[in-house]
Amino acid sequence: MKFFLDSALIDEVRYALDTLPIDGITTNPRHIQSAGKPFAVVLRELAALVAGSEKTVSVEVNPHLTEYADLVKAAQELAALSPNFVIKLPCTEAALKAIPTLAKQGIRVNMTLVFSPVQALFAMRAGAYYVSPFIGWKEANGEEITEFIQEVVSIKENYNFSSQVIVAAVRHGRQIVNAALAGADIVTAALAVYREALSHPYTAEGLQRFRAFWDQIPTS
Ligand code: E4P
Repeated sequence: MKFFLDSALIDEVRYALDTLPIDGITTNPRHIQSAGKPFAVVLRELAALVAGSEKTVSVEVNPHLTEYADLVKAAQELAALSPNFVIKLPCTEAALKAIPTLAKQGIRVNMTLVFSPVQALFAMRAGAYYVSPFIGWKEANGEEITEFIQEVVSIKENYNFSSQVIVAAVRHGRQIVNAALAGADIVTAALAVYREALSHPYTAEGLQRFRAFWDQIPTS
C-alpha cells in the first residue's frame, strides 16, 4: 500500500519524501492556505520536488467552479503545469462528466470529497484515476468507516476498475491498518499522523532498557 502525504508545506513534503519515504502528495485548499503563499508558487515548488519521478501531486481546482466547461478548463490549466499533477475534482455531476473528457486528453482526475460507496462507484465508472473516500470526516461525525472502506475496495475489485482508491483524511494508525486490511491502494495523511503511528511507548521504553544494558557492557 502506498503512503501519500496530505500537505502543501514544502519543508514537510521534502522531509517526508526523503525519510518515510512517501509515494505521492495530496493537497486541498486548506493545505494551500496553510502554506501562506500564492497558489501558483506552492504548485511550482511542489512540482519541483517530484520532477522526474513517477510520484503524483493531487491539486484541487478552484472550489467555486461548478460548471462542466469551467472544471475542464481549470483542470487543463493545472495539468499543463506539471506531468506529475493529478487534478482533484469534487464529486459532482459536472465533475463526473469532465472525467472522461480529461482522460481522453491524458489528464488524470482524483475524485475528491467522496463520502459514500455509491459516489465511489460513480467515480470509478467515469474513469477517475484516483478515488478519495474521506474517512476522518465521517469518523469524527460518529459514522463507521471500516465497512465504508471495505465496500469501496470490493466495488473496485468486483468490476476490475482501474481507479486507485486513496483512503483520505486519515487521522491515526488504526485507520491506516484498516485501509491496508481492506486492500486500499493508498492512504493519505498528515506527517504528524505517520509519526504518531510509527511511535510506540514500548519501543521507546525498550530503547531505554537496552541503552542501560549497553552502558554496562565491559569495554575490555
Ligand atoms: C485528501 O486528498 C484530502 O486532501 C484530505 O485527506 C482531506 O482531509 P483533511 O480534513 O485533513 O484536510
